[in-house]
Amino acid sequence: MRDLEPEEFAGIELIRARFLETARIFDFSMMEPSPIESLATMEAKSGPAIRDEIYLFRDKGDREVALRFDFTVGLTRYVASKKSLRMPVKLATFGSVFRYDEPQKGRYRHFHQWNVEVYGQTDVESEAEVIEFTARLFEALGLVVTIDISHRKLVESRIAASFGSADSVLVADVLRAIDKTAKKSRSEILREFTARGYDAARLEEVLDFSSVVGTPMEVAERADVSELEAWDHIVDLFYALESRGVGNARVNLAVVRGLDYYSGTVMEVFGADPAIGALAGGGRYDGLAQAFGHTDFGAVGVAGGVERILLAMREMKAVPQPEISAVSVLYTERAVRGDAVRLVSALRRAGLPVSLDLAGRSLKKQMTAASRSRFAVIVGPAEIRKGKVVLRDMKKRTERPVTAEELQRTLLHLLRT
Ligand code: HAM
Repeated sequence: MRDLEPEEFAGIELIRARFLETARIFDFSMMEPSPIESLATMEAKSGPAIRDEIYLFRDKGDREVALRFDFTVGLTRYVASKKSLRMPVKLATFGSVFRYDEPQKGRYRHFHQWNVEVYGQTDVESEAEVIEFTARLFEALGLVVTIDISHRKLVESRIAASFGSADSVLVADVLRAIDKTAKKSRSEILREFTARGYDAARLEEVLDFSSVVGTPMEVAERADVSELEAWDHIVDLFYALESRGVGNARVNLAVVRGLDYYSGTVMEVFGADPAIGALAGGGRYDGLAQAFGHTDFGAVGVAGGVERILLAMREMKAVPQPEISAVSVLYTERAVRGDAVRLVSALRRAGLPVSLDLAGRSLKKQMTAASRSRFAVIVGPAEIRKGKVVLRDMKKRTERPVTAEELQRTLLHLLRT
């Protein structure tokens, strides 16, 4: 797993701040589910195949447990266990998740997700709420994205119609074929699936269907959708998004999502560079509460990959430099270091971010280190004797002597405006 170095950490903190603010505006309550779940809980949600993708171990009590690979499992377990909660419940969380993935660009074993879920509603509005949230968060981060939306039942009913069977193994297999179109050529997929006994013409029909992208109207013109299950739902969802001013969503029938538990609307968010992979993904998963022994309740949510979003922001040059102290205090010689330390301590108590050389370096080296600060304060014996220090504006390249009191007042004023 990776160490998070200062530059990356600063970027993660920036995304966290925008996320917290957007969650507050949309009235989500922040919480954090447990970092460890029992294996049984994870399998209930995601099927036994999840074993290969998670950090799984036996604890000292000989229980099979795993590090959380997302927040949806824990949040749903929590909501299902709290019988007293009044639905709908809107929860948000931000933190580390762990997956036994093969590390590569944009794919890590330890990464961060922001996540929102709406529980207790099965209607289009709760989906529109989650999608609008996603649109606003990416806006706040300065990223232009496309929100691709589909519906599991829509694609499943197309598969059933083409193959003349709704057998769940067949449907899941063909969904996997659709999922592969993002990474593999059509001929490769056809070769692989015909070798396994699938009819090429039927598979091609489904792949043609899944390649349709656009507004609901454009999709209805290009594909025979109106008779399929859930098409009305998609149309209603896009009306709801329109009234919420979400203009960057489109129907993309190739979005199927890897995780098993989705039951309806599914979504994936992409930035300008598709090579980074999806920046966020989610959807409706109404059946999951049952897996926790609860009567069914509606559930829809979305999670974003923070490190991938950061990669996208870097490519757009939308990440500020990590913060450095706005003020650097320098001393011209060792004899006045004590004065400098006392001054720094007073400024910090006043709430100003101040750095001070701890290594006893020369003034020249201190000045180089301070070059990215907004202000430098130079403490020298001649000024100290007059009860003053020199305040230097590093941008304007101007300087003037000030008393300690004046310094504090000026800095508080200049740094807050
Ligand atoms: P997910 O698509 O597995 O969905 O993950 C969400 C996002 O996390 C992805 O779109 C991607 O940006 C990021 N991500 C996934 N794997 C990695 C990785 N190995 N390294 C870096 N980033 C990664 C979920 O986790 C669902 N729980 C979303 C959800 C919420 N569904 C309903 N509610």
